[in-house]
Amino acid sequence: MVISNSSSTTKEKDHNKERRMFVGVVWNCAAELKLLLTTLLFLCSLATLLQFLPSRFFLSPSDLRHCLSDSNITTLNNSSSQLPHINTDYLFNDGVLKRAFNPFGSAAYNFILMSAYRGGPNTFAVVGLSSKPLHLYANPTYQCRWVPHHDPLNSISTAGHKILPDWGYGRVYTVVVVNCTFPTLAGADGKGGQLLLRAATNGGGDRTLNITDTILALDETPQDFANFTAQFTSGPKYDYLYCGSSLYGNLSPQRVREWLAYHVRLLGARSHFVIHDAGGVHEGLMQVLRPWMEKGFVTLQDIREQERFDGYYHNQFLIVNDCLHRYRFAAKWMFFFDVDEFIFVPKKSTIKSILDSLTDFTQFTIEQMPMSNKLCLTQDAPTAFRKWGFEKLVYKDVKRGIRRDRKYAVQPQNVFATGVHMSQNMVGKTTHKTEGRIKYFHYHGTIAERREPCRQFLNSTEITIDGIPYIVDTTMRDIAGAVKRFELKMIGSRLQRTRQ
Ligand SMILES: *[C@@H]1O[C@H](CO)[C@@H](O)[C@H](O)[C@H]1NC(C)=O
Ligand SMILES: *[C@@H]1O[C@H](CO)[C@@H](O)[C@H](O)[C@H]1NC(C)=O
Ligand SMILES: *[C@@H]1O[C@H](CO)[C@@H](O)[C@H](O)[C@H]1NC(C)=O
Ligand SMILES: *[C@@H]1O[C@H](CO)[C@@H](O)[C@H](O)[C@H]1NC(C)=O
Ligand SMILES: *[C@@H]1O[C@H](CO)[C@@H](O)[C@H](O)[C@H]1NC(C)=O
Ligand SMILES: *[C@@H]1O[C@H](CO)[C@@H](O)[C@H](O)[C@H]1NC(C)=O
Ligand SMILES: *[C@@H]1O[C@H](CO)[C@@H](O)[C@H](O)[C@H]1NC(C)=O
Repeated sequence: MVISNSSSTTKEKDHNKERRMFVGVVWNCAAELKLLLTTLLFLCSLATLLQFLPSRFFLSPSDLRHCLSDSNITTLNNSSSQLPHINTDYLFNDGVLKRAFNPFGSAAYNFILMSAYRGGPNTFAVVGLSSKPLHLYANPTYQCRWVPHHDPLNSISTAGHKILPDWGYGRVYTVVVVNCTFPTLAGADGKGGQLLLRAATNGGGDRTLNITDTILALDETPQDFANFTAQFTSGPKYDYLYCGSSLYGNLSPQRVREWLAYHVRLLGARSHFVIHDAGGVHEGLMQVLRPWMEKGFVTLQDIREQERFDGYYHNQFLIVNDCLHRYRFAAKWMFFFDVDEFIFVPKKSTIKSILDSLTDFTQFTIEQMPMSNKLCLTQDAPTAFRKWGFEKLVYKDVKRGIRRDRKYAVQPQNVFATGVHMSQNMVGKTTHKTEGRIKYFHYHGTIAERREPCRQFLNSTEITIDGIPYIVDTTMRDIAGAVKRFELKMIGSRLQRTRQ
């Protein structure tokens, strides 16, 4: 629910606007309506009318043509409120011509609400998109108000703290997380209430206007509050939660099948995977997700509608921030990486032993092992089509001196907003020193490829191709058997015939 108004608009101005609009109508379309309008003109006071008389009041032949061909009488039927208001040039007595500017429409929304979540007895996060130039070149502000259902007159309000987690990456829209932290408890009596967000442009877009949209961000029922409290106090339901970014394109069901089996095995019984479908979950992909959804490991969210709003890579920053706040109290650790990436911990350790050793940190980052997406072993050539991707793609890119992306995990209770490669809005420490403890293998470009990935079969354990040195690394290949057995044990043989 959005109630829009602009604070500089007074009744007086509205009145003037209507009259100017009326002149605009006369100006544009006098021909057929001369009679009607003449009558109406009488109804308006002549004095006021003169004030707004355009400098060139009389119609030229081209205006007449315009009227006859282009314009619709039905438009006029809806009176001035349907027509955009037209300012015209004005000739001053001293001969100076004051030029007019006529704005039409609005190119980007002030705010697009995705979600709002309670984060404590007095704090909330509102997640959405907003016009990027508005944030880059102006200073829109946010105000939060809590209105108790049972006592609306006793509302409280506070300044919203805006966080722009995709700074520099946005397109038409940028992601905004508004942190609403009230100085006193807000709805902590559990009786329910509304969180209103007032988004003000503060003169961005039009210096003469402070366009303010009042948005009902959250309408909390007593049951919602009870559920929040239960989760907040009982501790996280999951040990590890995966927040996937937007899935898009013609994805390979077989690669996703492998990824899921691998990670459910790695992260274990108390793990959960939130997958976001931005158009990439076709029927074939659905088939490999379904068994794990039925087992309660996977939640699939359809986020296709975000495509209406042009943001960075199918609004992935928006999606991960929604996921962060939605599951903030449901998981001890939250992981952010992609479905062509495989987290790995060395044999002597487990994911639990590694993460337990990192509990002092709110966040840690994970080093990347880039793998070739086309080089395979000669010995695999006859059976490659039957092997799994991470089983047969064994050539690791070992080029030095390249800064590679890292991925990361956080303890979400301490995090207020999140990025794609790391979070910068949190309390507590971050460590990058995780080498030897945890890493990830990246099979770039294999996930959106529907054909057999092996293109070149090689014998040697070291090779340089196109200037990139590779060595054979069978770390992942060696686990493939165990992962396949795990999948069979967990969901049976229903995915055996999955296609590339
Ligand atoms: C005039 O109105 C008709 C029907 O209402 C519409 O189909 C047509 O496109 C309109 N023409 C213009 C120029 O707006
Ligand atoms: C214009 O308005 C009148 C009265 O409000 C209505 O009877 C008529 O149907 C309308 N004409 C069109 C084309 O909408
Ligand atoms: C006139 O206004 C009515 C109701 O506000 C709307 O349904 C109709 O589409 C409008 N017609 C035109 C031609 O703008
Ligand atoms: C908002 O920020 C404050 C710290 O500035 C933090 O304590 C609180 O948890 C945050 N709220 C949400 C919902 O992220
Ligand atoms: C615009 O409106 C908002 C909300 O009403 C207010 O906080 C802000 O100070 C206003 N800005 C200006 C420049 O008047
Ligand atoms: C609250 O939690 C209960 C039990 O977990 C669940 O059945 C119910 O749908 C939840 N209600 C809301 C409003 O989320
Ligand atoms: C790989 O080794 C096999 C047997 O060892 C040999 O027949 C084959 O030609 C070699 N292939 C390449 C590409 O070197």
